[in-house]
Amino acid sequence: MELKQMGTNDSTRRLSAHLLELKLHLMHLKRLGLYGLKKGGLSGVRSSLGECHRCELAQTRRNIVFGNGNPRARVVLVGEAPGAEEDRTGIAFVGAAGKLLTRMLAAIGLDRDDVYICNVLKCRPPNNRDPLPEEVAVCSPFLKAQLETIHPDLVLTLGAYAARTLLGREGALSRLRGRRLQYSGMKLIATYHPSYLLRNPGAKAEAWKDLKLVAGELDRRKMT
Ligand code: URA
Repeated sequence: MELKQMGTNDSTRRLSAHLLELKLHLMHLKRLGLYGLKKGGLSGVRSSLGECHRCELAQTRRNIVFGNGNPRARVVLVGEAPGAEEDRTGIAFVGAAGKLLTRMLAAIGLDRDDVYICNVLKCRPPNNRDPLPEEVAVCSPFLKAQLETIHPDLVLTLGAYAARTLLGREGALSRLRGRRLQYSGMKLIATYHPSYLLRNPGAKAEAWKDLKLVAGELDRRKMT
């Protein structure tokens, strides 16, 4: 009887802790203006972001790079942060890495207009330095809101930052890539960042395996 009572108390405590966590998360989303956004679609997420000054990157960016492509895409690609060309144009993946990305997509029969492309950070870090944890913390809720809004079949992350941010895990990309993972009810496949592939062409064979996984997943979904 006592043991049973202890079990119940434990479950109640765990449930209260989860509810508190959920409440804090909703309060956080409300503060960011991201709570209850689904109705507003991607433009709702964009207007919540506004002329963002939530972190230091606002001082040095030229343009916010929100994301572009098909708002009803079955595949969303997530990179790290805009580079110089993206900062200049406001469009994701238009520089050298973007050109390679376009070729990678074409290799599995996808056009850029078929997919939606965005980044963990919406503003360029000076000299393309790595994103700082506080930048990822304030910016990633907008990425997550984009994904919840589009709700694609599959998210393809490019590079370690995107994979770690969405999976909530640290660790080397080599441990995350090459298999089907899950993010919030969507399939997630992690692969190398195209900038890394430009510097390390030897890794292209592995990236090709990841792309074939993506193609297989899309085919499988078509048939079910
Ligand atoms: N690298 C990224 O991660 N994203 C871009 O948009 C461009 C380069």
